[in-house]
Amino acid sequence: MNGKTVTSSKSTIRKGCASLTESTTTSLPPTNQASSSLEKQLWPEEQMAAQISKILVIGGTGYIGKFVVDASAKAGHPTSVLVRESTVADPVKGKLVQSFKNSGVTLVYGDLYDHDSLVKAIKQVDVVISTVGNMQIADQTKIIAAIKEAGNVKRFFPSEFGVDVDRQNAVEPASSTFAGKVQIRRAIEAEGIPFTYVAPGCFAGYFLPTLVQAGATAPPRDKVTILGDGTPKVIYNEEHDIGTYTIKAVDDPRTLNKILYIKPPKNTLSFNELVSLWEKKIGKSLEKTYVPEEQVLKLIQESGFPINIFLAINHSIFVKGDLDNFAIEPSFGVEASELYPDVKYTTVEEYLDRFV
Ligand SMILES: NC(=O)c1ccc[n+]([C@@H]2O[C@H](COP(=O)([O-])OP(=O)(O)OC[C@H]3O[C@@H](n4cnc5c(N)ncnc54)[C@H](OP(=O)(O)O)[C@@H]3O)[C@@H](O)[C@H]2O)c1
Repeated sequence: MNGKTVTSSKSTIRKGCASLTESTTTSLPPTNQASSSLEKQLWPEEQMAAQISKILVIGGTGYIGKFVVDASAKAGHPTSVLVRESTVADPVKGKLVQSFKNSGVTLVYGDLYDHDSLVKAIKQVDVVISTVGNMQIADQTKIIAAIKEAGNVKRFFPSEFGVDVDRQNAVEPASSTFAGKVQIRRAIEAEGIPFTYVAPGCFAGYFLPTLVQAGATAPPRDKVTILGDGTPKVIYNEEHDIGTYTIKAVDDPRTLNKILYIKPPKNTLSFNELVSLWEKKIGKSLEKTYVPEEQVLKLIQESGFPINIFLAINHSIFVKGDLDNFAIEPSFGVEASELYPDVKYTTVEEYLDRFV
């Protein structure tokens, strides 16, 4: 925290801030502590509590989107989801949509490619979160255009939810995918739209159930293949936690125009450390095969779509260490588990327990 030493509990601080004019025993908020208008000063937590933004999720029926919708509704934000009529009619997605309705989420019919539907949906809310898939990344220019026309949006979270695309060393074809996200960042900034970019590293559900072993359906019990030398640090986050941290950032002034890295200390570990953790859990040593970088690059070039893109993403993460090879500077980023120490996140160790 930026303010002076806090000796009281968070709830005491809250109470104290609310009645600053009556009591002088509580520490002061971080800004303008000498100001005479103390009653106007608020801790970031106070500012957050003062407003509960209305949120629209575009892509809420997708893999990560549903966790964001769930977290938004649970946190008490009036939440709406842009859905296509065909999705509501789909037997599987229709059930998900019904569960949204049961949680009090409002369905707004529309489409990324229907400008009027976007503007209409966006006009009803304060914050727009896009969780559209990789195929729609470039077309988020349509959301940007709609936000500009609507004119009321306090914050836009574009579909990111992976590596910090401005700080990576990916090779093709992953570099083109990341470049699409970079272009969207620049378009948002050029239009002056307030933003937060969420960078949680790896979705736990994508990487941990197989320990990144091609074709596996469970973590390995005999042999493991390791890209590179297994030493770069990698970050994994359970999907509910990604939703929770994303929604916590919505009304937080500390995350405005910043990259929100989700990098809990217990979930930042090298592949070698991950394998050791798993070996400890199963009480057995695995036979390890290390694939040197040159061989990984050759494999990427020789593979067709989509294998080549998965390999190129894994090369960026596990060989280049793109999730943890730079320091988070306050000028561009903040870290979620530091901002929100109250969130009890799922650790990688706990996550792996479900496969023992
Ligand atoms: N860090 C990681 O490990 C990781 C892993 C995977 C993805 N990601 C990132 O996470 C983000 C979301 O990816 P995802 O895999 O969760 O997405 P996804 O499952 O493919 O979901 C895409 C969403 O976009 C919606 N959509 C597609 N076309 C639309 C249209 N024309 N109009 C309105 N909505 C439309 C889909 O709706 P329908 O349900 O109607 O189809 C769905 O809700 C991406 O930026 C991706 O790069 C990160």
